[in-house]
Amino acid sequence: MNKICESVICLIIIPFLSTPVLAADLKNGKSLHDKNCLRCHDESKYTRQDRMIKNFQQLHERIKQCELMAELTWFDEEIDDVAAYLNDQFYHFNLEK
Ligand code: HEC
Repeated sequence: MNKICESVICLIIIPFLSTPVLAADLKNGKSLHDKNCLRCHDESKYTRQDRMIKNFQQLHERIKQCELMAELTWFDEEIDDVAAYLNDQFYHFNLEK
């Protein structure tokens, strides 16, 4: 009985403990990106001198367009994760208002 109670409590508590500080999941963003987004361009697009993206909103929009072109049918959360990952890794826009 005790064991059952413990594991039930764990199941309830663990998701709270592992909720990242940021809502978006960078790891998920990276794996989604690496699996789906390197077909047409590589990561050098994000770091080139004359890159198109000037702020986080544009980054988010661009990812949506690319995602549509790639016919991935992602959820908004997946786009958020990839946007957060690309920002963390390459763009470094300041997200604090
Ligand atoms: C169907 C081909 C294709 C796929 C797949 C694709 N992209 Fe793109 N992406 C493009 C094109 C074309 C551009 C514009 C390149 C240019 O202007 O030189 C671009 C540009 C970008 C840029 C802007 C780079 C800059 O200048 O700062 C970002 C960010 C980007 N893509 C993200 C993604 C992400 C994230 C994915 C995965 C969902 C993805 N792309 C998948 C075709 C694609």
